[in-house]
Amino acid sequence: MVMKYLAILGRQPKISLAELESLFDTVEPISENLATFESGNSPNINRLGSVLKIGEKIESSPLEFLSGVAKGKVTFGISDYSRGANAYKTNGEALKLKKILVRHGIKARVLQNKTAALSTATSHHNQIGEKDGHFELIKYGKTWWNVIGVQNITSYAKRDQARPARDAKVGMLPPKLAQILINLCGDLPKNSVLLDPFCGTGVVLQEAMLLGYIPYGTDLSERMIEYSKKNLDWLATEKNLTNQSTYAKMELCVGDAMDFDWSKDIDAVACETYLGSPMSKPPVEIKLKEEKQGCSAIILGFLKNLAKQVKTDTPVVIAVPAWLRPDKSYSRLNMLDEIDKLGYNLIRFKNVSQRDLIYHRDGQVVAREIIVLRKK
Ligand SMILES: C[S@@+](CC[C@H](N)C(=O)[O-])C[C@H]1O[C@@H](n2cnc3c(N)ncnc32)[C@H](O)[C@@H]1O
Repeated sequence: MVMKYLAILGRQPKISLAELESLFDTVEPISENLATFESGNSPNINRLGSVLKIGEKIESSPLEFLSGVAKGKVTFGISDYSRGANAYKTNGEALKLKKILVRHGIKARVLQNKTAALSTATSHHNQIGEKDGHFELIKYGKTWWNVIGVQNITSYAKRDQARPARDAKVGMLPPKLAQILINLCGDLPKNSVLLDPFCGTGVVLQEAMLLGYIPYGTDLSERMIEYSKKNLDWLATEKNLTNQSTYAKMELCVGDAMDFDWSKDIDAVACETYLGSPMSKPPVEIKLKEEKQGCSAIILGFLKNLAKQVKTDTPVVIAVPAWLRPDKSYSRLNMLDEIDKLGYNLIRFKNVSQRDLIYHRDGQVVAREIIVLRKK
């Protein structure tokens, strides 16, 4: 049965909307950081890189809902995402609800709010949506939602920091962003072959394997291929995936993305391309021009080579560099016309424009512009 769900969007809500649109139907933003969407299956938050919490609509009152699920004992918190909400009011509402539950013979513990909504960390550490008897109710206007999933920040941090082969110079693609890039390819069937032709230390390939896809990685550098291999072996062991076909069929190879002949049939491509030199302050004009030329040549060379080797409709999602300017805007490669001529359609989103698809952290000089394509 198709049901409506609520998503609490991440730090860059437009990117969350694009990710949701790629996987679900009827995505509707309802405020700056909330959206509803529809799905025939219960959505799994662990496969969404940019969504903080997912809620299921409660048709009864919060009291009826909690009385129904409590089994004599309940730990709960309320997160109010309505306009004008504050911690004082939310805590008051939760304590009032607790009193009534106690009167009904239910032992209740309230998760106290520091702000109108519980932070993702508080919800995660209290095992909301995972542990029996632990609930978070979201209020938005007159509607109430029961949280069924919270972003697993512990698992993302482990995938990022505990992998054995890391290289700060190659860049640190956050696992969440890798997952977003893969999801922007759409809902691929299990065992699809996912190519990252600039695989570096293998973050995209790691996330692809976790999502049930066969990792296929190539990179110009032999050292990077060794790093990817080490990281994928580590993850497969950690997650008990060594017997799975996604691990058995993975392939890693040294190759230049501009002229390599990929031997496997490719179902989707997701990658962070070459990003140019690392930078700690915005580049001067001449340096920026040089960097742009260098990066464009590699990225367009790769797309030209790939176009001959993939079928019509193959999703190709690339994160390319965009540079911070002294006025805090981002300077882009502006390659969309050339990309069109090379045989790719740019995918447009209902709620998001290309301008919104820049993934960055505060003060980061080399950000990533996400470009979602399909082979014509
Ligand atoms: C920004 S890094 C990608 C990092 C990667 N996402 C990871 O998880 O570590 C870019 C990678 O592109 C590789 N590279 C640069 N030029 C290339 C080319 N022409 N063909 C293939 N790989 C290339 C570099 O060796 C580097 O590993």
